[in-house]
Amino acid sequence: MSSAHNRVAVLHGVNFDVLERRDQALYGGHSLSELERQISDFASERGLETIFFQTNSEGEFAEYLHRAPELADAIVINAGAWTHYSRAIADALELTGLPAVEVHLSDVESRQDWRRVSVFDGLVLAKISGKGADGYGEALDALARRLSVSDG
Ligand code: DQA
Repeated sequence: MSSAHNRVAVLHGVNFDVLERRDQALYGGHSLSELERQISDFASERGLETIFFQTNSEGEFAEYLHRAPELADAIVINAGAWTHYSRAIADALELTGLPAVEVHLSDVESRQDWRRVSVFDGLVLAKISGKGADGYGEALDALARRLSVSDG
């Protein structure tokens, strides 16, 4: 059953359009469509609706965030490598004023030092990494709690 204020925008950044070609040990070997289908199932189980967006253009990503408050009540963001250096994307996320959770498929804490840095630090409710697709389920749990959504 759908409730008001239950729309979650799930945003993927640079290089997620070729997810199935990226290192399987780190990213699971699935395509972005397969991942989005799984996230959509996780969302329905939690009484949430999803809308998906991916781009390789930092400007388009920022412009989508500018429109996000009209489209969604909360955000799941996996900005890929932009996470580690794009203050422009961080500013655009802050501008939305929406509750957000940061997700990474791989464990960014146990890889190179530069991947431990996130421009979203202090802006997101939680950062979930290294749990593969299940990390999105956890992110949706946190947002469902924040939005007080119930599926029953
Ligand atoms: C990633 C981790 C980033 O460091 C990397 O640049 C990506 C994917 C992840 O989901 O594990 O593109 O965000």
